[in-house]
Amino acid sequence: MTQTSTGASKSDTAMIVLENLSKRYVLRGGNEVEALKNVNLTVNAGSIHGIVGQSGAGKSTLIRCLTGLEQPTEGNVYLDGKQITGLGHNTLRKERRKIGMVFQSANLLDSRTALENIAYPLKIAGVGKKERQERAKELLEIVGLAGRGDSYPSQLSGGQQQRVGIARALAAKPEVVLCDEPTSALDAETTRQILTLLEQIRDTMGVTVVIITHEMGVVREICDSATMLEHGQILETGPVRKIVANPKSKLARELVPMPSLDDADIPEGTTVLDVMFTSKPGVPTGATVLSLASRMGADVAAGTFESMAEVQVGRLALTVPTIHLKQIMETLEQNDIAVEVRS
Ligand SMILES: Nc1ncnc2c1ncn2[C@@H]1O[C@H](COP(=O)(O)OP(=O)(O)OP(=O)(O)O)[C@@H](O)[C@H]1O
Ligand SMILES: [Mg+2]
Repeated sequence: MTQTSTGASKSDTAMIVLENLSKRYVLRGGNEVEALKNVNLTVNAGSIHGIVGQSGAGKSTLIRCLTGLEQPTEGNVYLDGKQITGLGHNTLRKERRKIGMVFQSANLLDSRTALENIAYPLKIAGVGKKERQERAKELLEIVGLAGRGDSYPSQLSGGQQQRVGIARALAAKPEVVLCDEPTSALDAETTRQILTLLEQIRDTMGVTVVIITHEMGVVREICDSATMLEHGQILETGPVRKIVANPKSKLARELVPMPSLDDADIPEGTTVLDVMFTSKPGVPTGATVLSLASRMGADVAAGTFESMAEVQVGRLALTVPTIHLKQIMETLEQNDIAVEVRS
């Protein structure tokens, strides 16, 4: 948890607030698309927040409203306590400097070196040569590329280019780093390295990180909180540990991969229950699930455990005698265990 100089916890303050945000696009011919419908969410300062949703869910629209590139049809956007909806051009430009952007492809300038790419936004902002070079060097080191400042983008790997992209986003000392699918073009190992880097940056600089992604793995790896979007609406939003403890949507259940189960392992006369639970201090939830279920004749057919947002999350496929299905589901639900018949 990030501490401010006053000792107060920075994560208790809201860095981004979206309030009753709606966006309708009018298409040629007069039809309307509701890209966002009454979206309410808060991202705490110093946290890493994931925004997840399938193609067309409204993620990019949300980002454009957040950066003031697009005016919402209704609602408000607050950045660091300041309302940014309805601001004039110049004031908005100033506020926008509080946001650094990272994209799926680093979009570096091919004719400039890594160092020059990082320093470029500072040049635009009118920072003197010496100062911007020093800052760029410092950032190059932070992203693990010290010594590669003179390399051109074509001489760097995809992961290294993304590191330069991250350094460039940090150049103007933003409060928020907004990443739009930052790892979608990278392999698994490079993805892990980039996510670790984002986490380090949050830890050392205290910036707030927002990651737009369609990959649940990203949320699982580094997000403190998340928002699940579907058809422009929020399915769930809040701390990851709360979402996984009581997932209300199919999308949220995807946070923990369903263990694979062979049909041959499902005994006749049984139904498969999909059970999710988290470890809570002092409550052996996993053991509770097992003992409750086995007492009523259920068996664990498959299971998986993940460590996420500092809690242990389990997902089990239980085969239960179909005649006891209702009773078993009721018992588990009474014990606050999220359970569903596996589809
Ligand atoms: N400028 C626009 N004019 C009209 N409709 C738009 C516009 N931008 C987005 N939309 C529509 O709004 C909805 C949400 O689009 P958006 O681009 O925000 O989704 P997304 O979650 O970013 O998808 P993807 O993962 O494919 O990038 C879609 O139905 C899209 O067709
Ligand atoms: Mg998009």
